Amino acid sequence: MPITMTSPLLTLTASPPHQQLAVTLPPAGVALTGRIRVPGDKSISHRALMLGAIARGETRIQGLLLGEDPRRTVKCFQAMGVEISDLDAEWITVRGVGLGNLQEPDDVLDAGNSGTALRLMLGLLASHPDRVFTVTGDGSLRSRPMGRVIKPLTQMGATIWGRQGHTLAPLTVHGQALRPIHYHSPVASAQVKSCVLLAGLLTAGATTVTEPIQSRDHSERMLQAFGASLTVDPATCTVTVNGPATLNGQTVIVPGDISSAAFWLVGAAITPGSDLVIENVGVNPTRTGILEALQAMQADITLENERLVTGEPVADLRVRYGPLQGATFSGDLIPRMIDEIPILAVAALFAKGATVIKDAAELRVKESDRLAVMAAELNRLGANITELPDGLEIPGGLSTLRGDLVDSFTDHRVGMSLTIAALRSQGTTTIQRAEAAAVSYPAFFDTLERVIN
Ligand code: S3P
Repeated sequence: MPITMTSPLLTLTASPPHQQLAVTLPPAGVALTGRIRVPGDKSISHRALMLGAIARGETRIQGLLLGEDPRRTVKCFQAMGVEISDLDAEWITVRGVGLGNLQEPDDVLDAGNSGTALRLMLGLLASHPDRVFTVTGDGSLRSRPMGRVIKPLTQMGATIWGRQGHTLAPLTVHGQALRPIHYHSPVASAQVKSCVLLAGLLTAGATTVTEPIQSRDHSERMLQAFGASLTVDPATCTVTVNGPATLNGQTVIVPGDISSAAFWLVGAAITPGSDLVIENVGVNPTRTGILEALQAMQADITLENERLVTGEPVADLRVRYGPLQGATFSGDLIPRMIDEIPILAVAALFAKGATVIKDAAELRVKESDRLAVMAAELNRLGANITELPDGLEIPGGLSTLRGDLVDSFTDHRVGMSLTIAALRSQGTTTIQRAEAAAVSYPAFFDTLERVIN
């Protein structure tokens, strides 16, 4: 197998299309130090591209995540006639076609691994009259539930066909003029909320979504910044968009992704001697559940240089090693750290006392069944996690894990969480299908090499 990267502790080998990462822990352990940046926020990147594509005029984006997920969104919108400039330039320009003007593509739109790309696009496509679109994705995405967005869109009058009773991709959408609804979503999902709001942009009247618990609000913030008429009632978790809307191109500066920063927060919190600053991280309160959870576990994390950047709160995060304490997490906090639960489970292994995570059944329908996969793979390394129907029970109290062979199951967050677990695993831990990290964090292994001491 050709080696693609080797350093004293890390060996990344490739046997295309897969890569595997071997992490060899030295007897003295490692510490994470220095100042780093993480790539742009994935949720904000998708939304900047999509709103830019349907706005009037140009949208300029700085800090766009160049991971596989947003690259799929770029390709899909280019296939629908949207001009998007060189992705390697510091500023990326999206030449908006104006609401209702996406062209019918001459091939299938492939969202790859990205639930956000597919679900948000569906709302836009369903409301484009007289055009037919077929959308699909990779094996993971084709097995993820789409009924949760097809149901409200169908109530709005959309016509969508798909496998298994129109619930699984590939999906074919026959766009048409829709009618406004008030949708009470049974799940706290920003993808469901955003899909309905995007469908509401072209729909005459008030389209309203109420969710059981507040999910991330990037769509609301960005729609308002682009000029949509939106009413938000946080007390009832209700958002209304008044259509038809007119969106005008904007400047968007994408902050670093707190979901990517979470790997370093936990990596430094569990490795003695660590002191790490992660600069320019988005700290939107609907995303900072991981900071609250780690602080509840007594992690030493401080926010510095707090500021607002194009409508989103941003800060530098300083994290230092210190003993952790187990805790119980449930309820409203869960949607605010939904993507960070795999890495939180790694932190919990080394805490004093047990950690229990509940109300997190949504993890079973992410890029993999993250409850099952994290429990199984961490248990291979010597943990003793019990899988609950809606969470994990993690005994804690470990001082090290044992190196072994584990697998990302092609899930980016699982692969990166297991890599951080390897920083406290004796001997060599090998993570198979490590390339999954590129979905949201292409430079993850380079940064790892840089911060390890
Ligand atoms: C996202 C919302 C979350 C999250 C996903 C990105 C978004 O999914 O897990 O990684 O950008 O809207 P749900 O909204 O389905 O929980």
